[in-house]
Amino acid sequence: MHKIAVLGAGLIGRFYTMSLLNFRGKEKIKVVCASSAGEAKAFADEFGIPRYTDDMAEAVRDPEIDTVIVALPNYLHKKAVLLAAEAGKAVLCTKPLATNAADALEMLRAVEKAGVFHGYLEDLVYTPKTLKALDSAKNGALGKVLWARSRETHGGPHSDWFWNKELSGGGAIVDMGCHCIEIARSFIGKDSRPLEVTCWADTQVHPIDAEDHAVGLVRYDSGAIGQFEVSWTFRGGMDLRDEISGTEGTVWLNHWLRTGFEMFTSVGQGGYVAEKAEGDTGWLFPVGDEIGALGYVAMFLDMFNAMDEGRAPRETFYDGYIVNTIVDASYRAAESKKWEPIDIQDWRGADAATASGMALEEYDSDHYLIKEERMPNGNLKVILKHKSTGEISQIFKE
Ligand SMILES: NC(=O)c1ccc[n+]([C@@H]2O[C@H](COP(=O)([O-])OP(=O)(O)OC[C@H]3O[C@@H](n4cnc5c(N)ncnc54)[C@H](O)[C@@H]3O)[C@@H](O)[C@H]2O)c1
Repeated sequence: MHKIAVLGAGLIGRFYTMSLLNFRGKEKIKVVCASSAGEAKAFADEFGIPRYTDDMAEAVRDPEIDTVIVALPNYLHKKAVLLAAEAGKAVLCTKPLATNAADALEMLRAVEKAGVFHGYLEDLVYTPKTLKALDSAKNGALGKVLWARSRETHGGPHSDWFWNKELSGGGAIVDMGCHCIEIARSFIGKDSRPLEVTCWADTQVHPIDAEDHAVGLVRYDSGAIGQFEVSWTFRGGMDLRDEISGTEGTVWLNHWLRTGFEMFTSVGQGGYVAEKAEGDTGWLFPVGDEIGALGYVAMFLDMFNAMDEGRAPRETFYDGYIVNTIVDASYRAAESKKWEPIDIQDWRGADAATASGMALEEYDSDHYLIKEERMPNGNLKVILKHKSTGEISQIFKE
């Protein structure tokens, strides 16, 4: 049984606690920490947690606990992780790992030097749909992944610190691009090195210094493109969608607004509908099992099983560090309006030489196949490229 300190009693601290209380039945949250003792006490009372504090170091050093869960605003992740490493405690940190790649690398080095278990709490690669799709992709259902597009958009976050770029590290890119980047990277393959980024970002609606809307492209050495689309200006709830295209297949995932549960009510259905829902009357998209659908349950299962089995979880601080390097390059690209290289100081994937190029499909000894298509008259049209002259031609087969 693991004994846990949860640092942060806000939105994500609540989701994590609900997930932990409901899953393996082996873990116990022994202490919760928030910025005020009153907030921490209310949370402890609600969830039956025996101790509470407003002192992060006290929670981390609590002699009974062996695992620290960091659910704090972005600018506090580094402090919390360094405290946990110093205390020799396993540490699980929410996204983004840090506000920038330099801090993420320092955190990675600290946990590795201390030899403590580390997990990056990137829940959206653990949604049941994503896990199934990742398995299919791994088994070859999509062929070689060419394009992984991931979107997270809503009307903006729920606490003041997100909107202050000194505390959050930026706007929608660091807040939600981190999810999209890791989803794309998981499908494209973590061995494939992300090389460069181009990005449009703007502040379209809100009176803030950071971007509230951005679209970016991340080029990988396999030739694949990861695309992130993030917004704090989107109306209509939270849009979480992924589209993955490969040489042999396609996956479309819709996690939140069209999940197969749609309800119309003129009078409301009694309060909270789903995260970032904009209203509680009219057409609604409730979510039956919010902590399951968002991946929290499968994520903690993997984290604690990995801890017990002495293996790394699916998502480690190394993944969080790579994501932060891509986020940093996205900010540079949004500024320069050019492709910007991704600066990875510690690359552990495959080297460029192993990245495979375009797959050519042989049609006959003289031709490569470009495309076959059954036409409305029933004929099969075959489009070919001559191997030596490069000429493109077509033939019909009855
Ligand atoms: N899907 C996800 O993985 C997901 C979703 C939401 C938020 N997050 C991440 O979780 C983190 C927290 O976000 P949130 O939405 O819960 O924020 P929040 O504002 O709802 O809650 C923040 C919590 O941190 C506590 N806190 C702040 N300063 C503190 C201090 N100095 N010492 C102790 N406690 C302190 C607050 O009291 C509060 O309980 C962020 O890094 C955010 O990016 C992840």
